[in-house]
Amino acid sequence: MPDPSRGLSLALLVLLAAGCSPAAVSGPEGEARYLADYVPTPMEVVDRMLELAEVGNEDVVYDLGSGDGRIPIRAARRFGARGVGVEIEPRLVWFSRRNAAREGVEHLVTFLHQDALAVDLTPATVVTLYLGREGNLLLRPILRRSLRPGARVVSHAFDMGDWVPDRVVRATTHRGEEAVLYLWVIRE
Ligand SMILES: C[S@@+](CC[C@H](N)C(=O)[O-])C[C@H]1O[C@@H](n2cnc3c(N)ncnc32)[C@H](O)[C@@H]1O
Repeated sequence: MPDPSRGLSLALLVLLAAGCSPAAVSGPEGEARYLADYVPTPMEVVDRMLELAEVGNEDVVYDLGSGDGRIPIRAARRFGARGVGVEIEPRLVWFSRRNAAREGVEHLVTFLHQDALAVDLTPATVVTLYLGREGNLLLRPILRRSLRPGARVVSHAFDMGDWVPDRVVRATTHRGEEAVLYLWVIRE
């Protein structure tokens, strides 16, 4: 799969430069909270995250704060998984849907213009995160009550406070950038 950031380029830059309105989305207590700026995960790291979660074609992969949609799109393209991206920024939702169509996986992925803290996570078997530590901590009780035993949570760069990870791995991109990835498996 080509790196979605390659064509990111003009279209996305123009869209983002036009400004955004996260407040258009409501959160659990009124207006949604903007938890992290848009910084895409390098594709090599995306692959490592999906491998760490052992994603397969039975999985439903939710990326909370899905940016340009690369994680659900990659999970669908590479593993035949279903994917759901949840993104507060409407232009990124539009861009993700366009990327999914370009990659021929629009039948497998859905992009929701919603607050990551307000979305129903009960269908998820895998949740991916690159949302910052505050976002992770706010999500903890939601993940705990929504996910079934066996579900996996993978976070890029940020831990979950005193939730002890099942695995911690390092991924390195061809440019030498290092990423730390955390895996938790939900238990009874
Ligand atoms: C660091 S980027 C990660 C993008 C993508 N997950 C990746 O790894 O390439 C964080 C994304 O979260 C989005 N975001 C921030 N707060 C959010 C919220 N409350 N609900 C949903 N998305 C949010 C931002 O707009 C941004 O696209």
